[in-house]
Amino acid sequence: MVRSKIAIWRLFLAATCLALFVPGAAYAQEESVGAHVNGLTGDAHEGKKLYRRFCIGCHGAEGNGEGENAVWIDPRPRDFVTALFRWRSTPTGTLPTDDDLYNTITRGVVDTLMPTWRPLTPQQRVDLLAYIKSFSPRWKSQKPGTPIQIPAEPPETIDSVLHGRQLFDQMQCWKCHGPEGRGDGPSAVTLTDDKGLPIKPYNFHDGTRFRCGETNQDLYKIFMTGLDGTPMPSFADSLKPNDAWDLVHFLRTLQPLVKSKSRDEWEAYRKTHQNEIKPLGEQAGGGQ
Ligand code: HEC
Ligand code: HEC
Repeated sequence: MVRSKIAIWRLFLAATCLALFVPGAAYAQEESVGAHVNGLTGDAHEGKKLYRRFCIGCHGAEGNGEGENAVWIDPRPRDFVTALFRWRSTPTGTLPTDDDLYNTITRGVVDTLMPTWRPLTPQQRVDLLAYIKSFSPRWKSQKPGTPIQIPAEPPETIDSVLHGRQLFDQMQCWKCHGPEGRGDGPSAVTLTDDKGLPIKPYNFHDGTRFRCGETNQDLYKIFMTGLDGTPMPSFADSLKPNDAWDLVHFLRTLQPLVKSKSRDEWEAYRKTHQNEIKPLGEQAGGGQ
C-alpha cells in the first residue's frame, strides 16, 4: 500500500518534471534561428550553458545588457534584444552576419570590459552565437544584410592622404573626432548612444588599436556601414569607394603611435609645405 503510493507519487513527480522541462528545452531550440560559421553549426542549448557561465553577469539573463555588473561598466554591455550591433560588414540598419558576430566575440572590444573569447573553442563560440540570437525577434523576421563590397586598396600616396584630409573636412568628421583626431570636436560632448548614455568619439591620436579590428579593411568598413546604436553614421551614400580608401589613409596620419606609410608620406609633406596646409574645420569655424 505504502509502496504503491510512493510509486504513484514518483510517477506524478516525473510527469510534472517532464511537463516543466520538455517545453523549456523545445523553446530554446525553436527560438534560435541557429548560427553557422566556418562549417560549424551552433547549438543554442549548449550556448545557453556557456552564456550563463561567462556572459550573464554583464549582458544579463534576458540578454538586455543589464546584467548585475552592468551599472558599473562604461561603455555598457550590448543589448541583444534590440540587436543593434556595431561591428558589421553589412549596411547600416541591417543585422550583422554570423561571421561578424563571431569575429567580435573572438576579438573582444579593446578599451572596454568586453573580453576576448579566444580561450573558448570555435564550436563554443558558435554555440554562444546561436544562443544570443535567440534573444531578439529581429533574427526571425529579418535576414542579415548583404556584406558591402570592399575594392582593392590603392597605394598609400600623398595624393591619397591629401584627398582623404579634404574629405575628413567636408564630411565634418572633425566635428566629432576633432581636427587632430583627438576625439574632442565641438559636438563630442553632446553625443549619446541608443540608450541615451554619453558616448565618446574615437581618439585617433592616443589610440593604437581600433574596436573594429586592426586592418585598413576594418577601418574602411566602419564608415561605409556606420556603428549602429551610436551617433557614428554610415557615409556609404556620400562616399565613392576610392574616396573611402583615401579617408582610411588620412586616418592613419592621425595616429602618431602607429607606424604607417601614409603617416610617413604626410610627415614628409608637412615639413616642406607648411604654408599650404589649411587647418581642418576652418570654414565652419571649428578649426584649431
Ligand atoms: C565584463 C563584462 C562583459 C562580459 C563578461 C561579456 N561582455 Fe560582451 N560586451 C561587453 C561590453 C561592455 C560591450 C560593449 C562594448 C562597446 O560598446 O564598445 C560588449 C559587447 C558585446 C557584443 C556586441 C558586438 C557588436 O557588434 O555590437 C557581443 C556580440 C558580445 N558582447 C558578446 C559577448 C559574449 C558572447 C559574452 C560571453 C562569452 C560576453 N559578451 C561577455 C561586456 C561584456
Ligand atoms: C556625429 C559624430 C560623429 C561623426 C560626424 C563621425 N564620427 Fe566616427 N565615431 C563617432 C563615435 C561616437 C564613435 C565611437 C563609437 C563607439 O564607441 O562604439 C566613432 C567611431 C569611429 C571609428 C571607429 C574606431 C574603432 O574603434 O573601431 C572610426 C574609424 C570613425 N569613427 C571614423 C569616422 C570618419 C572617417 C568620419 C567622417 C567621414 C566620422 N567618423 C564621423 C562619432 C562620429
